[in-house]
Amino acid sequence: MARDRYEHFAERYDLFFGSFDDHDPVIVEFFRALFERHNVRSVLDCACGTGRELHLFHSLGFEVCGSDISEAMLAQAERNLASRGEDVPLARVDFRELGRHYDRKFDAVVCLSSAFFEVPDEAELLKAFSSIHGVLREGGIVVLTSGTSDKTWREKPRFIPEVNRGDFTRLFIVDYLGSGARFNVLDIYHGEAHKDLQVWSITYERVYLRDDLERVLEAADFRELKFFGSYQFQPYDTATSDILIAVAEKWDSRGLSVRVAREMRSREL
Ligand SMILES: C[S@@+](CC[C@H](N)C(=O)[O-])C[C@H]1O[C@@H](n2cnc3c(N)ncnc32)[C@H](O)[C@@H]1O
Repeated sequence: MARDRYEHFAERYDLFFGSFDDHDPVIVEFFRALFERHNVRSVLDCACGTGRELHLFHSLGFEVCGSDISEAMLAQAERNLASRGEDVPLARVDFRELGRHYDRKFDAVVCLSSAFFEVPDEAELLKAFSSIHGVLREGGIVVLTSGTSDKTWREKPRFIPEVNRGDFTRLFIVDYLGSGARFNVLDIYHGEAHKDLQVWSITYERVYLRDDLERVLEAADFRELKFFGSYQFQPYDTATSDILIAVAEKWDSRGLSVRVAREMRSREL
């Protein structure tokens, strides 16, 4: 496997969050309601990073598994979850090849915080979405989230302040590179006890927006695609939405939704 892009960032990654355990109640309610609507009991986070959402879903009572390609991120997830007494199965798996590791199906697979930007082109994105499709049960859902939307991509802000707490600031300084971007992360520690400055950066060859996701999700045989522009289920608007959330369903092998297939079965009986 290629170089671990998070090797020098994993231990600092969680500084994105005031606390690993506190989640925005609006986001919690989004996932709770979405999972209830789709009868979700088991969730695979296929780019689980340091495990924050695994912790959230576990604490909401879901059966969770986490996978990621980065050993450093998985090691941090292991530390985070073990220190909270949570026994969540973690595995090093490329989300383009989930079927090579998992011989079971999930009710939901999530791929959050633009993790899918890390595949270089649409052919690789199709591999990823097809692999996710392969480990979902019929009627299961995929959930994708990104802080880059059509609107933010059009506006191309150079500076994005991510964190600004008393003693710590994290600033993204973005280089726009045609259809991709380099996110330079500047961490400034300015507390009395600890003053330091650290940098890290990640380059995405391609940024995928609403229409790209629609095209590739459909090519991977997903149905009932829905795009939201907020965690309150507001429909996605390319002009105004600051975030992009996509949800899509796996239908049965005949191309029927689970509801229709169930109705047909009951009529046949
Ligand atoms: C920006 S982080 C997001 C982590 C986590 N989902 C979150 O919301 O905090 C992106 C994650 O995607 C993972 N990732 C990138 N490419 C991947 C791949 N091909 N297969 C599995 N994980 C991958 C990275 O290792 C990293 O942990």
